[in-house]
Amino acid sequence: MNKLTKIILAAILVVGAIVGILAGVGLFTSSKSSSTTLPNSNNDSNSSSTPVPNSGNSTVREGHPDRPSTCKPVEPGKRLAVFWLTEVDGCETVSMQTIFLVPDGVTHVYFAFAEIKAGLVNQSFQTGDTNVTKCVTALRKRCIFSLGSVGGALANKYMKTIKDPDAFAKSGMALIEKFKFDGIDMDDESVGSDFDGTRVLAYMKALYTAMKSNGKNYLLTYDAFMYEGNLDTCKDAWYIRCWPVGLDKYIDWVNVMAYNINDKNDTANAMYLAATKPGDIFSRFADLVTAPKVTIGICSTGGCAYGPGPSTTVVASWTKWAENYGGMMVWVASRDYTHDYEYTNLIIKSQ
Ligand SMILES: *[C@@H]1O[C@H](CO)[C@@H](O)[C@H](O)[C@H]1NC(C)=O
Ligand SMILES: *[C@@H]1O[C@H](CO)[C@@H](O)[C@H](O)[C@H]1NC(C)=O
Ligand SMILES: *[C@@H]1O[C@H](CO)[C@@H](O)[C@H](O)[C@H]1NC(C)=O
Ligand SMILES: *[C@@H]1O[C@H](CO)[C@@H](O)[C@H](O)[C@H]1NC(C)=O
Ligand SMILES: *[C@@H]1O[C@H](CO)[C@@H](O)[C@H](O)[C@H]1NC(C)=O
Ligand SMILES: *[C@@H]1O[C@H](CO)[C@@H](O)[C@H](O)[C@H]1NC(C)=O
Repeated sequence: MNKLTKIILAAILVVGAIVGILAGVGLFTSSKSSSTTLPNSNNDSNSSSTPVPNSGNSTVREGHPDRPSTCKPVEPGKRLAVFWLTEVDGCETVSMQTIFLVPDGVTHVYFAFAEIKAGLVNQSFQTGDTNVTKCVTALRKRCIFSLGSVGGALANKYMKTIKDPDAFAKSGMALIEKFKFDGIDMDDESVGSDFDGTRVLAYMKALYTAMKSNGKNYLLTYDAFMYEGNLDTCKDAWYIRCWPVGLDKYIDWVNVMAYNINDKNDTANAMYLAATKPGDIFSRFADLVTAPKVTIGICSTGGCAYGPGPSTTVVASWTKWAENYGGMMVWVASRDYTHDYEYTNLIIKSQ
């Protein structure tokens, strides 16, 4: 890292601390990986695009047993999973009515974040427990899944404290039971020497096993940086983090954080346009995890940490593309609602 990089990184971390970014790192300092022409060795973006409803233990209904039996399963291509920062008010208030009113078409809400505490999942969020529970209950009445998101950009440095996968899985299950969640999202954003793919595989396997046993089928998802799925270039990226091969077995889907990729408009926009091309990054993820498990994440206005987010035109086209894959994710609905759910509604209209 050169000095400028450090300054930029420091600025990102500060911005990240303020807005609670989901993806505070990017590729802009790696001359190789920030190239807009990524290697196109694959040409099979359509080969595995048949939607498979109910991944995981398909013999059991997804989510918490309290989920009404009248609720229909969600097709992967129609998935619309949105993050909600729990510090944004608040169940008892009028403003919290907004979460009750997340537009019809949202299928999953992630409550962000339960951080890491001594190698285990911290059992609380940035608001009172009852506030979270009330929202889960309200969303459930509308058949919207609720998941707890574990980690976040501020918890990166604690990921390496996860040393006992089974104990970690137990604490994940405790979070699910406490808030009656339908599942968990692992937002491990550690990079460089803080990141360890072997550790990720170990705790995800333990979590997945716990969440899919005893007749349960809780959902387990994971968040990835946009280009860590390009195994040809990920090792050269300055953040040094690659998709842990084999993780596909332990996830219901991956949210590919397709934003915060370059501070230059032209470069970032070219990368966004290329992403759905055969052999480019989204189909590379499909090769790693199968098409129905590739969920495309976008940042809404005010949710992007740096560089331009994908334009509304790009988001509309990605949404169509993602109907044959794993649907869409929005970072971050608790801000998008202050913009009349601009991006959330755009995705719903484009589906
Ligand atoms: C990629 O797929 C397209 C459409 O199926 C085909 O026309 C083209 O020849 C393929 N290219 C390679 C390099 O396989
Ligand atoms: C890929 O799938 C889409 C949607 O099913 C279809 O319109 C398109 O023709 C397919 N492309 C190739 C190269 O098979
Ligand atoms: C629950 O939400 C209300 C309304 O936003 C807020 O006033 C209260 O402080 C929250 N409770 C806790 C313990 O954070
Ligand atoms: C657990 O999370 C809560 C809410 O974010 C926070 O106030 C508390 O400090 C955390 N505890 C530890 C030990 O990290
Ligand atoms: C799936 O659920 C059934 C019914 O509870 C259970 O018997 C089976 O062991 C589960 N399979 C897996 C792979 O967890
Ligand atoms: C980059 O795009 C944004 C809008 O997305 C615009 O406000 C900004 O001026 C652009 N920056 C440059 C250097 O063109």
